[in-house]
Amino acid sequence: MTDLNLTARGYECSPWELRWRGMDVDALQRTESAFALSNGHIGLRGTLEEAEPRGLPGTYLNGFYEQHELPYAEGGYGYPEAGQTVVNVTDGKVIRLLVEDEPLDMRYGVASEHDRVLDFRTGTLRRTTEWSSPTGRRVRVTTERLVSFTQRAIAAIRYEVEPLDEDLQLVVQSDLLANEPVESDTHDPRVAAALDSPLVGEFCHAADYEAVLVHRTRVSGLRMAAAMDHHIEVDDGISTRIHAEDDLARLTVAVDVPKGGRLRITKYLAYGWSAQRSVPALRAQAEAALGGARKTGWDGLVEEQQQFLDDFWATSDIEIEGDPELQQAVRFALFHLLQAGARGESRAIPGKGLTGPGYDGHAFWDTETFVLPVLTYTTPDAARDALRWRHSTLDKARERATQLGLHGAAFPWRSINGAECSAYWPAGTAAFHVSADISDAVVRYLNATGDDDFERLHGAELLVETARMWASLGHFDRHGKFRIDGVTGPDEYSAVADNNIYTNLMARRNLLAAAEVCTRRPDLARELGADTTELDTWRAAADAMVVPYDRELGIHPQSEGFLEHDEWDYAATEPDFYPLLLNFPYFDLYRKQVVKQADLVLALHLCGDSFSPDEKARDFAYYEARTVRDSSLSAGTQAVIAAEVGHLDLAYDYLAEAALTDLHDVHNNVRNGLHMASLAGAWQGAVAGFGGLRDHGGQLSFAPRLPRQLGSLKFRLAFRGTRFQVEITHDEATYHVLEGEPLELVHHGERFTVTETPVKLPIPAIDPGPAPHQPLGRNPMRRTPDRVRQFATQQK
Ligand code: BGC
Repeated sequence: MTDLNLTARGYECSPWELRWRGMDVDALQRTESAFALSNGHIGLRGTLEEAEPRGLPGTYLNGFYEQHELPYAEGGYGYPEAGQTVVNVTDGKVIRLLVEDEPLDMRYGVASEHDRVLDFRTGTLRRTTEWSSPTGRRVRVTTERLVSFTQRAIAAIRYEVEPLDEDLQLVVQSDLLANEPVESDTHDPRVAAALDSPLVGEFCHAADYEAVLVHRTRVSGLRMAAAMDHHIEVDDGISTRIHAEDDLARLTVAVDVPKGGRLRITKYLAYGWSAQRSVPALRAQAEAALGGARKTGWDGLVEEQQQFLDDFWATSDIEIEGDPELQQAVRFALFHLLQAGARGESRAIPGKGLTGPGYDGHAFWDTETFVLPVLTYTTPDAARDALRWRHSTLDKARERATQLGLHGAAFPWRSINGAECSAYWPAGTAAFHVSADISDAVVRYLNATGDDDFERLHGAELLVETARMWASLGHFDRHGKFRIDGVTGPDEYSAVADNNIYTNLMARRNLLAAAEVCTRRPDLARELGADTTELDTWRAAADAMVVPYDRELGIHPQSEGFLEHDEWDYAATEPDFYPLLLNFPYFDLYRKQVVKQADLVLALHLCGDSFSPDEKARDFAYYEARTVRDSSLSAGTQAVIAAEVGHLDLAYDYLAEAALTDLHDVHNNVRNGLHMASLAGAWQGAVAGFGGLRDHGGQLSFAPRLPRQLGSLKFRLAFRGTRFQVEITHDEATYHVLEGEPLELVHHGERFTVTETPVKLPIPAIDPGPAPHQPLGRNPMRRTPDRVRQFATQQK
């Protein structure tokens, strides 16, 4: 950094926004992820308008990827041949500024103010920069950008420059820039080659203030269009020029602006992509979207955005009293989850949303198991759309099942277009539980909405095809028990194990749900070819499902044989050796009792109706001592079960870890994008943890309990069209309907009806016994009163 008299102070603590004051070039990569804007269709990383300095530029369109060979030293049957990687598409964020022929570049000159703020209520990213060029020309640059929730194809930027001391000549260049060079983290030259200039120009056009570029990928054969238009407001005469070439369209605006005057440019951006549509069709699509945005205008887009978010927060907000930093982090999490799913419309929700290129842009079980519970109870349409995406990939899942010698559908471990992309089969392909995770998300969504159309058109088929897969993957042994051998459960430090309890319980639920829908809807059963013999087999498999238990220890083994494995030597493992997978061979991890992420403990949460309270307490303590949390998916689940068994301080620490994973860059990889499952873990920790929400068998139940550190916790949910609120203090919980019909709920085992009149119910005490311990050095950071106070004093 040159000559900047501003020191960056990190994120400020504030309940409804994320603000970073000052400029820190080294922090750009991670702040670009946190400041990313998305509507689930378009994703814009939070790069500066002038494009440099930059961390990792990124503009993404959900589902738009390039295909490349997958590297194998030794091939094997069924290995996926092609990989898919999200493409950095045409960047429309770029607006460069020349102040009397000196480019605005934050690495030069002096910035007396530089401030960026992501506003969770307006859904915009604002920036204010006061900058003095190396020769002392001072300007104020104010920008605001949004990716529209209401007009799916649209993003917009308002860009203003004011000379502060004297009249100045300003030149602004507003670009559409394709194939912008990006440093890639990949170590595979074939992937790097595929992503080096991935777009082939097919069409460009520019006229007046408007331009469009159409490109396609070389191998995956996808086509995209990006278009821009501008509205320019300035007091005096301007000269403009627009031109377009293959990878660049540029509008140049030159104008003399007097001191006290202002140049204001509103840039509208439209994106579209397709595997089938022609160049003229895609061009027309983008231009039409631009036409709509222009008609709405900047003020209109901002207003629509605000209304959309008002509605979202009215159903989804979580209020935490007593920990301002956690409050901010939880709203940040909810905002990003909404951004990831709001307008995906039958596309996946990738593990990083559209905030970065991490995990190649793939979607995992993270979506169904972590993100969709949040969306189901806050933005159910988004949950439905993500499941529709799974449904749209059923043919590929059927092909995969056939290839693996199975019936029905086997969904991929990681993918963009529905085809398996996991190159390491023991962790990827053998993790069959993803299919049960999808079916569980279907059941949860149906229970929460009663959406008959979805059940008829998508849900029933998803349940039936995944049930068929389980019926063919498992077998009845000589004792008549149904075993599912050779699978990888959620814990990736065990692989190809027999009777993983999480997998078996989720498969059981999948089989029963399929049988239930077919019995209730014989018309659908007929359509799907499911006869009574098949339903009987599913039920028999479910009834006979093996759920191993060790009587001597009074513990459930995560998988058969797990409790016989050697212990990991935590005392001999240096802190730098985590994550273990990067420092130890898999074979050694696989043969030890070391757990990467909640596995049996996740079963205690999602299949909690299969365990007694005592079993939960014992199982939790046992796995707590062996779980190293090398995955960001773990803390949220540990928060939920710690709260259920009464270890509220520990639950609080885990909730904070899940919620702050990205803001504190706990896993040191936020530069590649935010961790959607961990953000969802923040909601899980609050609502399923301290709120005790469970939805076994479609009955919503709560078992609230608050840690002593918090004054109160309030959250809102939507269920069957009713919006309601739960407020928890230390002695009681208050439930009331905000809008809609009364609901039957359960509070600590007691049924009651919630209406618009608040119902107050007492919270019974719990004695959790001694606190469990974690592997040496792997306990979550203690959320001490000092730490909480530090942020409380900062709060704006
Ligand atoms: C975890 C998986 C997860 C994936 C993507 C891995 O580290 O072990 O469970 O699906 O990351 O988030």
